[in-house]
Amino acid sequence: MTTENSTVKVGDLEFPPRKVWMKTYGCQMNYHDTERILSHLSGMNFTATSEKAEADLVIFNTCAVRDLANQKFYSHLGETKKLKESKEIDPETGFKKNVIVAAGGCIAQTEGKELVAKYKQLDFAFGTDVVDNIGEMVYRAYSGEKKFAVTSWDRSENYSIETKITQGTPTAFVNIIKGCDKFCSYCIVPFTRGREKSRRLDEVVKDVSRLVEHSGIQEVMLLGQNVNSYGKDNEESLGQLIMELEKIPGLVRLRYTTSHPYDVTDDLVAAHAHSKKLANHLHLPVQSGSNTVLQRMLREYTVEHYLTLLQKMRTANPEIIISSDIIAGFPNETEEEHQATLKLLDDAQFDFIYSYAFSPRKGTKAAKMNDAINDEIRGRRLREIQAKQLKIQENIRQGMIGKTFRVLVEEKGLNKGVAKWTGRTSCYRLVHFEPETPENDYQWHWVDVEITSATALSTQGKILRDLGKKIQ
Ligand code: SAM
Ligand code: SF4
Ligand code: F3S
Repeated sequence: MTTENSTVKVGDLEFPPRKVWMKTYGCQMNYHDTERILSHLSGMNFTATSEKAEADLVIFNTCAVRDLANQKFYSHLGETKKLKESKEIDPETGFKKNVIVAAGGCIAQTEGKELVAKYKQLDFAFGTDVVDNIGEMVYRAYSGEKKFAVTSWDRSENYSIETKITQGTPTAFVNIIKGCDKFCSYCIVPFTRGREKSRRLDEVVKDVSRLVEHSGIQEVMLLGQNVNSYGKDNEESLGQLIMELEKIPGLVRLRYTTSHPYDVTDDLVAAHAHSKKLANHLHLPVQSGSNTVLQRMLREYTVEHYLTLLQKMRTANPEIIISSDIIAGFPNETEEEHQATLKLLDDAQFDFIYSYAFSPRKGTKAAKMNDAINDEIRGRRLREIQAKQLKIQENIRQGMIGKTFRVLVEEKGLNKGVAKWTGRTSCYRLVHFEPETPENDYQWHWVDVEITSATALSTQGKILRDLGKKIQ
């Protein structure tokens, strides 16, 4: 690759400076993939833009987990037709020559070929396992190749990558395992992300050390669809990895997501007790408070096992805050089964939950079940779950008042008309606080904040100390 007069030469093609607009749906894995894509494209002279109208390349990174995510993507893809039509016309396609539209991610993994065939404005589609080949695909598109889909799986034995960061933040997402082998009966992810494959522990440690030493990273979020399965193939474990990462000087906080309760091992519980860097937060999706529903979901644990795990975690680290995911209205869920979920909310005392109405996903076991309940019942149950949880978390949040939390500040914004800074505590709660003077810039600073008021959804505090951008 050579650069001449701000043009980058890749193979036989000249790449002048161009703009890429990306839209990401879904989970942190997808957001992280987007960052990888942008990092690869910067080497081909693309800079990211937030203005779709000025983009030369439009990429959707899609999510298939619920129907709503699919619908959003189809509607946004529909809008790109106008974008292409509004520019210089290519007589061959009827669209502007240089605006390329692509779709990646989980919908593209399973439906890539169909999408390309169905949507005239879509130039190419690519799956979740070929993200690092984006440069090659963009090259193909700019050399005139039209209408292709790349949805192959990476067949190599090991999962080996280097983390790419583009944002200049002190937080990095680091993939440690990809795929999911669990096949919960409602979930599309094993079909869109393939089989579980872990990175080797020493590779992850080197990767994180490099990020801390050379890129100013202080907080790391370890990522995977099921991080608790990490290292199984290599006789390594998440608990071991955490204790190794703990030793890296300059790394301040460690988080991981997402966990499956089945694979929470004693060494992971021990890591929560012994690690000083592991955040005081655990996101442990439970999905339902009914054992019969958990069985139909193929979740492989009981409510009793789940509550015992929470107890172990809270004993290991009394500061720990637990959050969860719940699905309302799984096929044939009875009123009694739904009530069991409401009871679980009382028993578990989650700090927050993500809750969803069940959405049938094509190809999953749950989508084939004859379902006696309808969307109205699902909607009502979801509202009941959310209302109950709000009451519980309002109570929990009141307990924060008067306590001091260390916060990593993310951004400035307006909170009810007042300029405030916002950041996250170790336990992953968002805290808003007013600056000491309007000129103070706290972006990516560590600050100590005393909580002055809290509702179920928002926590306000008073800044006590500004520790600056780097702490040990
Ligand atoms: N790996 C995580 C686990 O084991 O719980 C979850 C990953 S999934 C991408 C995120 C959440 O989406 C799930 O925890 C579940 O609550 C929800 N979800 C997945 N499939 C769903 C479906 N078909 N309908 C509604 N919610 C769904
Ligand atoms: Fe989906 Fe279950 Fe895998 Fe989580 S563990 S990604 S819910 S199949
Ligand atoms: Fe969605 Fe795929 Fe993540 S289905 S939630 S983007 S793994």
